[in-house]
Amino acid sequence: MRVSLPYALTAEVTHRCPLHCPYCSNPIELQKRENELSTDAWLSVLEQAGDLGVAQVHFTGGEPLLRPDLERLVLRAREIGLYVNLITSGVGLTEERIRQLAEAGVDSIQLSVQASSAELADSIAGFRSHELKRQAAHRIRESGLPLHMNVVLHRANLHQIEEIIELCAEWGAQRLELANAQYYGWALRNVDQLLPRREQLQEAEAAYLRARERFGYHLELLWILPDYYEDFPKPCMGGWGKLSLTVAPDGRVLPCTASSEIRSLSFENVKERDLAWIWNDSPSFNAFRGYDWMPEPCKSCDRRELDYGGCRCQAFLLTGDARAADPVCKWSPNRSAITDRIGSIENGEFGTPNYAYRGR
Ligand code: SF4
Ligand code: FES
Repeated sequence: MRVSLPYALTAEVTHRCPLHCPYCSNPIELQKRENELSTDAWLSVLEQAGDLGVAQVHFTGGEPLLRPDLERLVLRAREIGLYVNLITSGVGLTEERIRQLAEAGVDSIQLSVQASSAELADSIAGFRSHELKRQAAHRIRESGLPLHMNVVLHRANLHQIEEIIELCAEWGAQRLELANAQYYGWALRNVDQLLPRREQLQEAEAAYLRARERFGYHLELLWILPDYYEDFPKPCMGGWGKLSLTVAPDGRVLPCTASSEIRSLSFENVKERDLAWIWNDSPSFNAFRGYDWMPEPCKSCDRRELDYGGCRCQAFLLTGDARAADPVCKWSPNRSAITDRIGSIENGEFGTPNYAYRGR
């Protein structure tokens, strides 16, 4: 089978993070600092990625600013010719840090926000970070860099969607991802606390559409679908091993950030193998390429070239079988894994959330 070239690298430089968000999609077991790749190992990853055809790198975590070598990595990535995006909570983005990052050549910074009011935002993050984010947004704009923002939407903040959009516009964002929570990793522990009702989602989507009209080209808004309420799954990652790859803090190379939880696969490490071999030839990257691996109902389904059977991580987490059709699909024999959950939310009472906070 012909293997395409990867377009993007997600460099998870650390799992350490000052925030404790209940919707964190990083795996349940986080990598400790002592297992993180060294600076030299990351520099080699970037060089190999450039040779492999990668065009853009997203530095993320955890909180990538916790790595004091971040500027060195950004500089090398730019020298190689990669577009560099930094995904950050903004905590630790001092004036000195933003100056160094801008000098190193970072192309864009994506800043997360949890809600429009400091009180709610801080209670979701489990950390008093909202004011620090406001300051970070200001510094990013002052440095002349484009400010991209993102918010993870869930039951506790969907009602604030209009105010969140207003806030991001006021802080100077040029782009805002309205990402409905996805239930991988730690987030799956909190799914019953996070999952909104259908009506709440419909109201929020209507507000997003109104805002899109209103802001036009001044603020690019992206609505990331809440897939539990869809009839068909998303073409996750644009297909397994097709467009992008992730390097985890310990050097394991993953087809997507959530896939380390697929226990039926083992993932190669850049400490032992080169990136090109892992992308082209490793069993994990080839596990779900093409269509031959598919069981029914995907095997004979007309939509298989549209959605690739949905998300492999979600299939594994909800059915124990990473080859199964994503249970979001209305034709999946495991659809009840989704509908039972939605049913209990639609009929249940919403109280004060009782989150399992990450890392506490
Ligand atoms: Fe997609 Fe499989 Fe459902 Fe068809 S049966 S729509 S390929 S998940
Ligand atoms: Fe891993 Fe969808 S999140 S394939």
